[in-house]
Amino acid sequence: MNRENALLQDMINFYGKEILASPNMIKSQEFFQHGTVSVHEHSVKVALCCLKLVEKFNINVDKASLVRGALLHDYFLYDWHNEDDGSHKWHGFKHAKIAFKNASEEFNLNDKEKNMILSHMFPLNLVLPKYKESVVLTIADKICALCETADSVLVKVRDYY
Ligand SMILES: [Fe+2]
Ligand SMILES: [Fe+2]
Repeated sequence: MNRENALLQDMINFYGKEILASPNMIKSQEFFQHGTVSVHEHSVKVALCCLKLVEKFNINVDKASLVRGALLHDYFLYDWHNEDDGSHKWHGFKHAKIAFKNASEEFNLNDKEKNMILSHMFPLNLVLPKYKESVVLTIADKICALCETADSVLVKVRDYY
């Protein structure tokens, strides 16, 4: 990890301390998000990407909320690839609300954090990102999802190389 990432990771550990220590958050290491990336790893990467974006574009945000909302945006707590019973069929449309419910039950969320979680799938979900932190999260999440999906495709293609 380079020095910039290490400093930002320290910031994530500081603002995200309560969330990262949660047994449910730790359990999310067992659930896959894109390719071989777990939900836990994805959530930390998204938080890192959010911090990089606000530094790069010099956006003045509430960094504590930015980190906490990013860490909790996919707090749905199941493996959406495992759909034997069809319960995760509409995962793309439903998981923001499920993550919001789980996160609200466990943590004391402020309005920014609530909106970040509920709107992160915009425009697939029609909850509008109302805060700068929410807009940054929707962008960071799409960047990370794209990179993680591309990586998993490249790994498969490399089998033929
Ligand atoms: Fe999501
Ligand atoms: Fe995500």
